[in-house]
Amino acid sequence: MSAKPTEDPLVNKALPNGILPPNFELPYPDKPELITANLLKLFDLTPDPRIKFVMKNLVNHLHAFVNETSITTEEWMKTIQFLTTVGQTCTPIRQEFILLSDVLGVSALVDAINNPPVKGATESSVLGPFFTEDAPDIEQGGSIASEGKGQYMYVEGTVRSTDGTPIPDAVIETWEADESGSYDTQYKDRDHPDCRGRLRTDKDGRFGYRAVTPVAYPIPGDGPVGELLITIGRHNLRPNHLHFMVEKSGFRKLVTSLYPDGDPFLSTDAVFGVKKNLVVKLEEVNDDAEARKRGFPKGGSFKLLNFLNNERRTRLHERMAVFLP
Ligand code: BEZ
Ligand code: FE
Repeated sequence: MSAKPTEDPLVNKALPNGILPPNFELPYPDKPELITANLLKLFDLTPDPRIKFVMKNLVNHLHAFVNETSITTEEWMKTIQFLTTVGQTCTPIRQEFILLSDVLGVSALVDAINNPPVKGATESSVLGPFFTEDAPDIEQGGSIASEGKGQYMYVEGTVRSTDGTPIPDAVIETWEADESGSYDTQYKDRDHPDCRGRLRTDKDGRFGYRAVTPVAYPIPGDGPVGELLITIGRHNLRPNHLHFMVEKSGFRKLVTSLYPDGDPFLSTDAVFGVKKNLVVKLEEVNDDAEARKRGFPKGGSFKLLNFLNNERRTRLHERMAVFLP
């Protein structure tokens, strides 16, 4: 499955792959249903049982799709051209195929079936394409955003195991868009990470840091996926959110986001990432002294995201980030 085409486009070599014909005969596929049947029979030759199962299923659904839609030759060619453009839009820093998987709900579905809700654990949400490895380490109470990147927000919570025990020294990666709705990686002149940071929980599992109040933002719309959304009449916005990735050895990694309530795009998130229990209330703190105490240089007011204070949390969900052993 890892064979790469030759790099020279003029040398499009087709060599026998060395696999012998099967030791069974098949009927000539001169009726549509025989094409499907023959193809499925050929999977008897697939050695890996998981690949056989997944590929047979894929082919079954794909052929059913062709049959049920009576897709025309022009439409199929257009589909192939679309997928070609999706591939050609990918670069080392842009993954249009993941974006396609996101807007078609596949990423969220894969995440949902691989990370089903667990009693006492915070639910997962989509990772998205804007996580980077170069987030700076910040101290407790430090800031992930440089001054001027948005309205002040303070984030605090506790990391616990599913039985409620606080987890010290868990690593939290957190990232968000700035107030214009852009991640640092979307700026051409990015010379340092911004609106992202890495910190560790204290001895009581607690953490707190300064950030900016998230805003809704559009996912990349200048490629084929953006065009697809216009064609099918869908907006391309994600509601305001703050990303988290929480890790501690011996526990399952948590990738999630929190979504402040009141955003008009919460239930129609372009990538289906929002779950009810991840929607949180932000508290408005109108207290200049408190803002300065928490390290906001201009003081004034700030929003407080305190996962534990969110009234809609039941005990089951009140924990900022809970891991499975
Ligand atoms: C994000 O939240 O960063 C994101 C997720 C999926 C697609 C685009 C952006
Ligand atoms: Fe995001």
